[in-house]
Amino acid sequence: MSRSAHPAGPRHADVLPEGHYAAPPADLNALDPKVWAQTVDRNEDGVVTVGGIAVTRLAEEYGTPAYVLDEADFRARARAWRTAFGADADVFYAGKAFLSRAVVRWLDEEGLNLDVCSGGELATALSAGMPAERIAFHGNNKSPQEIERAVRAGVGRIVLDSFQEIVRVAHVAQSLGTRQRVQIRITVGVEAHTHEFIATAHEDQKFGIPLAGGQAAEAVRRALRLDGLELIGIHSHIGSQIFDMSGFEVAAHRVVGLLKDIRDEHGVELPEIDLGGGLGIAYTSDDDPREPHEIAKALTEIVTRECESARLRTPRISVEPGRAIVGPTAFTLYEVGTVKPLEGLRTYVSVDGGMSDNIRTALYDAEYSVALVSRASDAEPVLARVVGKHCESGDIVVRDAFLPADLAPGDLIAVPATGAYCRSMASNYNHVLRPPVVAVRDGEARVIVRRETEEDLLRLDVG
Ligand code: LLP
Repeated sequence: MSRSAHPAGPRHADVLPEGHYAAPPADLNALDPKVWAQTVDRNEDGVVTVGGIAVTRLAEEYGTPAYVLDEADFRARARAWRTAFGADADVFYAGKAFLSRAVVRWLDEEGLNLDVCSGGELATALSAGMPAERIAFHGNNKSPQEIERAVRAGVGRIVLDSFQEIVRVAHVAQSLGTRQRVQIRITVGVEAHTHEFIATAHEDQKFGIPLAGGQAAEAVRRALRLDGLELIGIHSHIGSQIFDMSGFEVAAHRVVGLLKDIRDEHGVELPEIDLGGGLGIAYTSDDDPREPHEIAKALTEIVTRECESARLRTPRISVEPGRAIVGPTAFTLYEVGTVKPLEGLRTYVSVDGGMSDNIRTALYDAEYSVALVSRASDAEPVLARVVGKHCESGDIVVRDAFLPADLAPGDLIAVPATGAYCRSMASNYNHVLRPPVVAVRDGEARVIVRRETEEDLLRLDVG
């Protein structure tokens, strides 16, 4: 496509955003391995491939928009977490990041456990054959039906989130003639450096039972008294998309402090602690996430040190990474529909999806990267904003991005690092159909979650 056929947008010098896109990258065709799935590459024709398959072929076969998931990468990351924590710890993948039956099978095969937080996630896990004892059931308001189902299924642990729930779970377990293994989720009063909506350990929010004021100690007292419960440990999750380990350090210190108080008061050493998930990934080249082995080392050292100084046996540690496993493994493939250069401002690039397949930009001001993937281009960079097709001006997928000036309708662009919290938070806003998830591995692609159809939409509409 010649540049004259498509007028270039404003030059990047006109309106420079702050942060990551303050300057165009040296090479718009380069694919930073930090943000792209492991098997992503650009072939000699300039077309991006994943698992050995060209994105142009994927678009032809499965349509756009589509989430494209690199199965080898998913398995490698799951394995890296498993190996890093070793035999003395447990890794629970947080299903809320993205869950499907194929994913459950991969996790099972790679030796990971699974954290679910709703009846729907539990049903998905069980229907794909995840052994119930390797499932942890979370949530701040589990329904009585959900609790009963989880206890009947024999889930390995239920994470108790309130005083009411302590009684509810005990009651269900007792009436079913069983003892349910439980942890108590506490809030340790840590301010995680992340977006307010995804920070969860400060006290003024809905999750957990505050350590402050002795509430957590009281919850433990009550749980230990109830026959239907076997209290196995304390749980803390401080937030999401965190890079700084100091929050975990403070959390571990306070959780171990509670274990010590429990030992002193009840003569019981609880055998487990769960430090939750929340480890950050790279959405742009500016992000520097830690490797699982560094995280495992840091967390294990903190807990061991704290326990030694409290003269406690070191409990078995568990963690619950979601984003850090699935996030980097997928990208969203879109077709460009319109390109609108606004003089002196920026170029608006409309794609065939939007806030219904990625709400994170609108909800958290999340930053993403983007690249032209159906061809290489040596056109100059223009400052662009990638927007969706929804009837809303906040329908932004990538707020600030440099794309080549010759970008044109029909080109395919891809947004990397959309494996976590995109399909799982997708909506039908404007009755837009949710995209499929296509898994690729070793030159083969298969749909693991199919594209929604108008029939699916109309099936729910029974009026
Ligand atoms: N464990 C618990 C108890 C959690 O609540 C969460 C996430 C995780 C583990 C996994 O966190 P991860 O490792 O994936 O950060 N929708 C937001 C994130 C919400 C996270 C909710 N809980 C986002 O798109 O950033």
